[in-house]
Amino acid sequence: MLDLAIILPTLNERGNLAPLLERIATAMGTQGWEVIIVDDDSHDGTADEARALALADPRVRVIQRIGRRGLASAAIEGFCATAAPYVAVMDADHQHDPALLPAMLAALHSGEAEICVASRFMPGASTAEWAAPGRERLSAFANGLARRLTGVELSDPMSGYFMLPAATARALVPRLSGIGFKILLDLLATADAPLRVREFPLCFAARREGESKLDRAVLFDFLAGLYDKTLGRVIPTRFALFGTVGALGVIVHFAVLASLLFLFGEGFALAQSAAVLVAMSFNFWLNNWLTYRDKRLKGWGAVLRGWAGFCATCAVGAFANVAVATFLEGKGVFWALAALTGILLGSVWNYALSSRFVWGRF
Ligand code: GDD
Ligand code: MN
Repeated sequence: MLDLAIILPTLNERGNLAPLLERIATAMGTQGWEVIIVDDDSHDGTADEARALALADPRVRVIQRIGRRGLASAAIEGFCATAAPYVAVMDADHQHDPALLPAMLAALHSGEAEICVASRFMPGASTAEWAAPGRERLSAFANGLARRLTGVELSDPMSGYFMLPAATARALVPRLSGIGFKILLDLLATADAPLRVREFPLCFAARREGESKLDRAVLFDFLAGLYDKTLGRVIPTRFALFGTVGALGVIVHFAVLASLLFLFGEGFALAQSAAVLVAMSFNFWLNNWLTYRDKRLKGWGAVLRGWAGFCATCAVGAFANVAVATFLEGKGVFWALAALTGILLGSVWNYALSSRFVWGRF
């Protein structure tokens, strides 16, 4: 009977798959398991290798995703693609020891735990083989931050190796942010009642071959994810980013305006127009790079079209801004308050329109 689905998110892990399957088979013995390899169209042929392995062993299944990325969303894909009552997620690079699987499964069977986590930072665990002190410190820092912000009491809420009932996972999926690497933290923070956790000490090994996919973008996603789970309920993450970018744009605007006026002695109308254009282009670039990096416009054509659309959208927002501010000021509202109201209104307008027409779909 199928009991456990082991989800392996992969990005360029071709050479690691066959030996890992052997280790999983050895660890699981006669228990019913399947492996779901969720590959994001790796260019090293991981998906083809996975299919070759699946031909020889029907317990191996493959999901190849085109044009999509992300460890967390790959795990979610796996949760929803299995009939097994339990699901585990682990790295495909041999950093996570499959020998822990049966004990984790037993703890779920007996009802002792509602979720099992392999921890790198508890008594009995070790990261000695990892040989990446920088990453170790970063993980410890991220763990501390995560604990503080989400109230999850665990030695390693950042672990990428865990197991839980598939039904629990699927029930939480609609409310997960699905961004970046932090799927476990997301599950724990989203559950209504805290899940009963049991941690298992893990000897975190060195990656067998290939390289880590955790980069600056993943770190940024992590911070954005934490924000999303805390303050994000009050001010949506994307809008906060959009607003921050806008505030930086105001600084750029004044820098350009002041230097044209005072350094180059240009007239106000020209200086103001140039400042608007520069600030708008700057905001477009930064939003494309940061706020909408998951939908980033690429290639000259798309970027130019997006930029033109962004400028057109902002022109409407700027008009609304000036109109409202002028109206309020005329009614006797304190000038700074009138200006602020105009800016706020203009930015909400710009955000709503550009997220739909520049980075969204019609
Ligand atoms: N499908 C898919 N899509 N898989 C991905 C992606 C992606 O965008 N990014 C990474 N993976 C796969 C990798 O191929 C690997 O099997 C696994 O996810 C983990 O990625 P690694 O590149 O090995 O991450 P790491 O070892 O640096 O990070 C470790 O520590 C993190 C916390 O500090 C892992 O254990 C993570 O799971 C953990 O969250
Ligand atoms: Mn890894």
